[in-house]
Amino acid sequence: MAEITPANPPKPAYVGAEKDTFAFVTVAKRWPVIVTNVIDDVYKSYHQGEGGKHEQEAKQIIEQISALKYDIQRDKELRPIQEDGYGDVAQWNQLLETYFKGKTWFTASWLFTECYMYRRIREVFQLTETWKDYDPFFRQKTSTFRGSSAAVFELAAKFAEPIRQQSDDEKRVWFHELAQVSLWGNATDLSLLANMKEEDIKSVQAMGQAKLEEQEKMIVVNDLDKIWNKVKTLQSGRVDFVLDNAGFELYVDLVFADYLLQANCASQIYFHCKTIPWFVSDTMPSDFQWLIDTCLSDFFNQVEPAPSAEQTENLKTLARRWQQYMKEGKFVVKSDPFWCTGLAYRHLKAEAPDLFTDMAQKADLVIFKGDLNFRKLTYDCHWPVTTSFKEAIGPVMADEFGSLCVFRTNKADVVVGLKEGKEEELLEAGFEDWRYSGKFAVVEFSQGRGKAVIDTD
Ligand code: F6P
Ligand code: MG
Repeated sequence: MAEITPANPPKPAYVGAEKDTFAFVTVAKRWPVIVTNVIDDVYKSYHQGEGGKHEQEAKQIIEQISALKYDIQRDKELRPIQEDGYGDVAQWNQLLETYFKGKTWFTASWLFTECYMYRRIREVFQLTETWKDYDPFFRQKTSTFRGSSAAVFELAAKFAEPIRQQSDDEKRVWFHELAQVSLWGNATDLSLLANMKEEDIKSVQAMGQAKLEEQEKMIVVNDLDKIWNKVKTLQSGRVDFVLDNAGFELYVDLVFADYLLQANCASQIYFHCKTIPWFVSDTMPSDFQWLIDTCLSDFFNQVEPAPSAEQTENLKTLARRWQQYMKEGKFVVKSDPFWCTGLAYRHLKAEAPDLFTDMAQKADLVIFKGDLNFRKLTYDCHWPVTTSFKEAIGPVMADEFGSLCVFRTNKADVVVGLKEGKEEELLEAGFEDWRYSGKFAVVEFSQGRGKAVIDTD
């Protein structure tokens, strides 16, 4: 069998040029909006007439980001990344040269071009003196978190107090609830927000028990029972989260992680973050710290209606506990450049061997969050939807890695793991957009080298 490479995925890659896909909608319509928002943000961050290097470089950034937008819309060839002082330039250029020579924004694989676009945005800032560490998405991340205040306080009220001793059955119920809270937190990422109405967002963030039962019907592949069967065997284990979005999603991930610690399933949680601003809302280590500091501050006092003293105190209690976990090494924040390459996770072992070995050997369970992680796990290609998750992630991740799972709300074309007939059922019910509307989800599990778990199907 031919070697699997970025130019030869296991099935034909999704590409922007395919008109009937979400890849096309994204490349043709969503990226121009995302790139324009970067320009607007830079514009807001400097004051015209201020003069000096900062203003001069702001103008240069705006020009270059506009040129990038032009290149995308005119479907130009992908060019090498300029030497901008980041350690990954040679790798990007080698991938471009080897697998994407002569390819364009619409004809190279969507997975690669989308990652490449965020690297090109970084290049523009990286090549300045005064904007090097600037995150053009930070403003959006913070304002969306502020907009999530109702759900933030609701969860804080419920989880601020330490959890009392629970029976096994109670643990199972809480696990299912919190896993779902973490899952649906992925529905509100910023790059898709433009497609969702405010009521939809508020509705997926409202996490009452009845609401969650209703939402569970929207999980079209649901391995939560299998994951619980794995988690309940863990005692003081290490659970890794390969994080997705900052703000509200990170907040609910921390609530979930906190529960795993308190239920003694884990004694350590590793959080893997991005190294550069990525896919608009993804979490970098600075966003992680920001979230904890923000929950300890009076950040939400400006929202209407202002929170009560009790609400603020609940949130601070939670955040103080998280801060303490960080001091004690129970929460560990990591960040590896591999997460910001354009590579699918089949290449994790070959491209980031130390990271692979650490996660494969030391983590008892790795939870991949979100849509992009799902696309990278499955190589973002045209699998029939009934392909098994194991086949889609490939032999290295399925057999040499440990237990892993993915919590993903569907925001892209690729789907695997569906039962026969399920897709037809969804289409008959009128959900033509079930693959990318963000209203449906998949939760999939691979036991990897780990001990067999009881299959509850
Ligand atoms: O734009 C492509 C995309 O991967 C979408 O599929 C999704 O809306 C977004 O970017 C990233 O989603 P997530 O934050 O869940 O990885
Ligand atoms: Mg994201």
